[in-house]
Amino acid sequence: MSNIGSYDDRIKNFSWSIAEDELGYKDGDIINIGWYCSDRICQMGKGDKIALYHEGFGGKEKSYTFNDIRLAGNTIGTFLRSLGIKAEDRVCLFMDRIPELYLSFLGVLKIGAIVQPLFSAFGDESLYVRLENAGTKAIITQKKHLSKIRKIIDTLPSLEHIIIVDYNKDKQYQNKEVGFILNEADPVEEMNICPTKADSPSVLHYTSGTTGQPKGVRHVHYSLISQYLTTKWVLDLREDDIYWCTADPGWVTGTSYGIIGPWSLGVTLCVLDRGFSAEAWYKFIEKYKITMWYSAPTAIRSLMKAGDEIVKKIDLSSLRHLASVGEPLNAEAVTWSERVFGMPFLDTYWQTETGSMMITNHPGMKIKPGSMGKSFPGITTVLLDAKTYEPITKQGKAGLIAFKPGWPAMMTTYWNNEEKYKEKFINGWYLAGDRAYIDADGYYWFIGRDDDVINTGGHLVSPFEVESALLEHEAISESAVVAKPDEVNMEVVKAFITLKPGYEFDDDTELNIMNFIRKKLSPLAMPQEIEFMENLPKTRSGKIMRRILHAKEWGEEIGDISTLEDD
Ligand code: PRX
Repeated sequence: MSNIGSYDDRIKNFSWSIAEDELGYKDGDIINIGWYCSDRICQMGKGDKIALYHEGFGGKEKSYTFNDIRLAGNTIGTFLRSLGIKAEDRVCLFMDRIPELYLSFLGVLKIGAIVQPLFSAFGDESLYVRLENAGTKAIITQKKHLSKIRKIIDTLPSLEHIIIVDYNKDKQYQNKEVGFILNEADPVEEMNICPTKADSPSVLHYTSGTTGQPKGVRHVHYSLISQYLTTKWVLDLREDDIYWCTADPGWVTGTSYGIIGPWSLGVTLCVLDRGFSAEAWYKFIEKYKITMWYSAPTAIRSLMKAGDEIVKKIDLSSLRHLASVGEPLNAEAVTWSERVFGMPFLDTYWQTETGSMMITNHPGMKIKPGSMGKSFPGITTVLLDAKTYEPITKQGKAGLIAFKPGWPAMMTTYWNNEEKYKEKFINGWYLAGDRAYIDADGYYWFIGRDDDVINTGGHLVSPFEVESALLEHEAISESAVVAKPDEVNMEVVKAFITLKPGYEFDDDTELNIMNFIRKKLSPLAMPQEIEFMENLPKTRSGKIMRRILHAKEWGEEIGDISTLEDD
């Protein structure tokens, strides 16, 4: 059955109670995402349906039914309880996209603990700041990531358990390390699922800002209501769909729409645990007969680069619907996809903080390639004047994207940082930190971010984090980090540095610094280019002016430089 309804009707008659009714939830009831994504689907008679098709590194295939994922969630949750993990304790998932990552997600939620998913390519420093801030009690991981955890464990007193899912009994393990092999554990048929309520915390995702350390965006179990409905209406997931979300659950897309949305609808999810390759991706679609595909502009631009010929060699006729998120989806990518796949990628705009889609190209609605679309029903969007913070009424005038608080998936705070959370609101509006304009038909067009955060391939990187890490390198005296334009990734990280006396800048130094950051932070945060300067541009008070370096990279007017030190 199709989910397509008229956007205009839906927006007129909208209430979140539509999702509540479909999910059988009433205000004040227990609501547990782990239960909704597995037990409820089994109770609906779909226990034997495939919940997960998994293709691991090297092509190893596995599949799990909804009953399998229900049992796995129970078994993992019960094991965590046996270690003393309680409701609201933070449990970090630090794994590649292996089945245990998805199954542990349910297990942690079922016992009412808070899931803290972290990208497994993070280096020890990125990991440390996030575990330290969250006061994480347990981390579920693989052997291959242990060395990073061992480096920092002594400085993390709250971290009591390191759970290794591919434990090797013959190996020596250290203090706090414990093995848990799901296949070898006795399946737990029944468990007492934690009676979480709408405002009980569920998922903690860390996101980067311009200043300070990354912030822990705290979500609650009630977020399910908007994740369920946006999945149903925008991703248009139906009973027989085979769905692929290319995002890693270390980022919000990979949990809101890579786990919660599809499983709460009882839809089969596909996971491919490998990096980008046009051919491998297309073959994956062909093999599993994927019908709905949610991806990101950088991946789409990379597919465009791989060319049209390769598409013709592979049978992609199963595809029925495509959507994209994370960065501006350029008009060329939309028209290319129409030509090559016979259908456009529908752009969706949202953030870690919003937890679910906010501005979307609703299926059935006229698409304007390059536009993010219109507000999802139930979402009130405005553009605010950057000086007065008053709503702008004039079409075509740029403003700050802001939303009226109150949708179900909205973050409830930044972990341990209520002050920063409050700063996100002005005159009763939630400020997204992006700029856009609206056209005469009510379509939003993205202009850019309102801060210095770098969006590389749909992943946010904080210049502050990279600058701080650069300063830990023995040769570097000062650093400034900005976005540099890039054809495929939209932006990449570029670093400007000055060196300490006695150091020379050459290719070896550049490579050495790049690797230093890759290991400490992640491949995403690694500068793609490092430029040596005798002096960095600074204000009279000594503050480095990133603005000037940014303008230089983007070929823009530098603007007022009257406060420059060397003026
Ligand atoms: O700047 C916007 C950009 O990504 C930011 C949110 O990043 P994050 O919290 O990591 O979540 C990404 C996935 C939901 C936004 O503030 N962004 C996201 N979607 C779009 C976008 N920029 C332009 N167009 C989009 N569709």
